[in-house]
Amino acid sequence: MESFITGRTQTICLLGFPTAHSISPQIHNHAFRSLGLPYVYIPLNVAPRNLAAAIFTMRCGMSGANVTIPHKEAALHYCDEISPLSAVTGTVNTLYLKDGRLCGTTTDPAGFYKALAAAGHVLGDDHVVILGNGGTARTLGASLLLDKKCRSLVFAARSEKKAALLVSQLKKDENIPVDYCVLRSPESAEFFDRCTLLINCTSVGMHPQTKETPLDAKFFHPEMTVFDVIYNPGITRFLTEAAAAGCKTQNGLLMLLYQGLESFRYWTGVSAHASLFDITELQALADKGNHSK
Ligand SMILES: NC(=O)c1ccc[n+]([C@@H]2O[C@H](COP(=O)([O-])OP(=O)(O)OC[C@H]3O[C@@H](n4cnc5c(N)ncnc54)[C@H](OP(=O)(O)O)[C@@H]3O)[C@@H](O)[C@H]2O)c1
Repeated sequence: MESFITGRTQTICLLGFPTAHSISPQIHNHAFRSLGLPYVYIPLNVAPRNLAAAIFTMRCGMSGANVTIPHKEAALHYCDEISPLSAVTGTVNTLYLKDGRLCGTTTDPAGFYKALAAAGHVLGDDHVVILGNGGTARTLGASLLLDKKCRSLVFAARSEKKAALLVSQLKKDENIPVDYCVLRSPESAEFFDRCTLLINCTSVGMHPQTKETPLDAKFFHPEMTVFDVIYNPGITRFLTEAAAAGCKTQNGLLMLLYQGLESFRYWTGVSAHASLFDITELQALADKGNHSK
């Protein structure tokens, strides 16, 4: 009798609520099995009231975890150590154990940087506009500032109050101006005119609201690279309109894959290569997740 799970198998879990749509179990289990590593990755659908118990269980008997919506901020408070990056983003998406201590970090920025590079965009001297003020907007904005990877940074959000609060909370770099504006306000136009890297960190356009877009197409111009963190659908209305305006575009699927492989390295010490995966197959899995909910 053969089973790929044995008494020596180490467990990694996904802490989320819900987890049914996630393709991380397929990504990690495929990588573990392709590389012959004794691990298994399981989804744990954990309601917020049960997060403390789930993390306690995880640190007692498992080797690590991914953390997703809505636990990325709350999980940070259960860590013994957090990375300098998580200290500025206030979020963790990866938990791992080091000498019995629970460590937390976020691999979303590393995934974003690699996905952007794969689109042929060289980061460093950009006027960046981030759409949104939620967890991903904060994580990518904080990381661009920490890594000094932009020339200026603007958050364009529907709530002026929330955008102002986010900007006030970020750790600034004196050489990088940070500002905010309200989406669809007349004042926002100048920021989009100057923008060379536009990142959608809102959930607008995600399945099933595929007809929606966070930004009027008139703001796109060919000097902009346009990144959508959404990967379901693979091509959002936002990306379709950006491509039609001559922008270089990238969706969030490679970001998801690369952040996952970065987490994988924290748990196993092994660098898995993206070539283990067929991107078309991954996109099909993500699309299938939409319809099985
Ligand atoms: N590719 C990847 O690896 C990856 C990684 C992380 C997240 N994501 C994706 O990123 C997206 C955001 O996730 P998150 O964790 O940052 O969520 P979040 O914290 O809930 O933030 C969502 C943002 O969307 C804004 N928003 C929602 N509806 C809007 C509308 N109609 N008009 C304007 N803004 C609107 C929200 O504004 P308010 O605050 O005003 O509500 C908020 O700023 C999700 O689609 C998620 O799947 C992808």
